[in-house]
Amino acid sequence: MEIVHDPRETRRHLDSLRSAGRTVGFAPTMGALHDGHRSLMETASARCDVGVASIFVNPLQFAPDEDLDSYPRTLDADARLAEEAGIDVLFVPSARDMYPEPIWTTVSLRVVTEPWEGADRPTHFAGVATVVTKLFNIVGPCAAFFGEKDFQQLAMIRRMVFDLNQPVDVVGMPTIREPDGLAMSSRNRRLVPAHRREASVLHRALTKGAGTIESGERDPAAVEAVIRAELGTTKHAEDPDYVAVVDANSLAVPESLRGEIRLLTAVRFGNVRLIDNIGVSVPA
Ligand code: PAF
Repeated sequence: MEIVHDPRETRRHLDSLRSAGRTVGFAPTMGALHDGHRSLMETASARCDVGVASIFVNPLQFAPDEDLDSYPRTLDADARLAEEAGIDVLFVPSARDMYPEPIWTTVSLRVVTEPWEGADRPTHFAGVATVVTKLFNIVGPCAAFFGEKDFQQLAMIRRMVFDLNQPVDVVGMPTIREPDGLAMSSRNRRLVPAHRREASVLHRALTKGAGTIESGERDPAAVEAVIRAELGTTKHAEDPDYVAVVDANSLAVPESLRGEIRLLTAVRFGNVRLIDNIGVSVPA
C-alpha cells in the first residue's frame, strides 16, 4: 500500500492507472477506522482494480463548538487496517494540502440537507459536500463507497453527484453493527460503560418502528410514537434530537408510508451524540 499526501500526485498516479484500463474504488473516511470502514474498503478493493481510501479530518464540517480537536486520530492503526482491507493507495493529506488558502468556493445543497442533522448543524453538510467534491476531483472518476449509517450524508452525496454530473458511481453500504445492535461509529469509544450498555436502544427502537410498518401501519406519526416510546425506556438516553419516518430519497415526511422508507434518529448519551437509521420497503 502506498501512502500519498499530495493531491496532485494522487490524481496523476490514479489517472495513469485509469489510462491503463484499471477501475478505481474509493472509500473516503476521517480515520479512527472500525469494522464499518473496513467493509467499505474491502468492497472498494474487491469490486474495483485499484482500492483507494482517504483519511482526512475535515475542519470545514465541524462547527466551532463541535469535537474537531478531540476527534480521535489513530493514523498507524488506520494504515494497518486499510492495508489489511486491500487498499492500494491511501491518501492522507494535511489541512494545508487540502486548504492551502482560506476557501472561497463551497458546495451546498438545499432540501435534503435542511431537516434532521441539518437543523442543528447548519454548516455541517456544506462542509461535507465541499470536501467530498474536492476528494472526487483529486481521486478522479471512480466508484465511491459510503456507509448507510450516515444516511442523510449518503442521500445528499447521491443528489450532489446527480445535480453536478460528477463522474462517480455512489454505492451505499449497509451499517455494520456490534453484536447488541449498536451501529459502529468512531464516537462509540467515548461512551462511558453505563451509557454503552444502553446505547443499543437506538437500533431496538428503530426495529420496533419498522415492525409496525411491516404489520401494516402507514401513518408516520404512529410509527414515530412507537420509536419514541422505546427510546424512553432507558435511564440515561436524553430526549431524542429527532425521530423521523421519511421518504428515503427526499427525507421528507410523507402523508402515508409507501415505497422506500427510512427511520432515522439522533440521541445523546451524556456528551456523546449517536445517530442511527434503518430502511423498510412498503409495497405499492
Ligand atoms: O463520513 C465521513 O467520514 C465524512 O463525512 C466524509 C464523507 C469522509 C467527509 O469528510
